[in-house]
Amino acid sequence: MVSTPLVVAVDGPSGSGKSSTARGVATRLGLAYLDTGAMYRAMTWALLERGTDLDDPAAIARDAEHVVIESGTDPQAPTIVADGVDVSGPIRSRRVTDHVSPVSAVPRVRELLVTLQRRYVEAADGIVVEGRDIGSVVAPDAPVKVHLVADAAARAARRALETGDADAAATLESLARRDRIDSTRAASPLTQAEGSVLIDGTHLTLEQVIDQVVTLVDAVRDPA
Ligand code: DC
Repeated sequence: MVSTPLVVAVDGPSGSGKSSTARGVATRLGLAYLDTGAMYRAMTWALLERGTDLDDPAAIARDAEHVVIESGTDPQAPTIVADGVDVSGPIRSRRVTDHVSPVSAVPRVRELLVTLQRRYVEAADGIVVEGRDIGSVVAPDAPVKVHLVADAAARAARRALETGDADAAATLESLARRDRIDSTRAASPLTQAEGSVLIDGTHLTLEQVIDQVVTLVDAVRDPA
């Protein structure tokens, strides 16, 4: 039986359905929701605004210290603010998407954001957290850890629908490039965390994936 506030970690590559799944689970169970990818995107947006040279990891590490990021954790209306600006829209732009992987590979950026993410986890009375390193680094003791995958074509089709990008081949290439960087970087590469349950959503509906995660939560809340 879980007595401490529940933490559900949802990790996986871009376009695997993490966000819809994590928000759906949080809404159904009345938990808070944290999108850590949005935080890395907000950091990238803020550094672009400052004119930081994103080819220079030392400059990224230096300027990142001064960026203030705030996340709203209502799963039905999540918000993300960087340096006082609501960046919910701009963080989904092609410009931010193209630069987020090199920014999130900088160890100091990860330290800063992981510290912030743990604060949100500690402050919440139960939370679903989505990202790449939640089950491995941010909340390794989370009682429920899910690693969500889907095949590349399904992920590209989903992402193209979300962004309204008609060029499926370019979307697939952008996803593949980010996957490559995210999985091979030295600092917290995307891997399946120990103790996590692999869910392949390729042939499942969103509701079916949410059902599977809720079943895992029920099992730790009330073990048979
Ligand atoms: O989930 P997303 O596509 O919005 O994430 C954007 C980028 O942020 C992704 O390319 C990798 C990075 N990221 C990360 O390194 N660690 C996380 N916990 C979440 C996202």
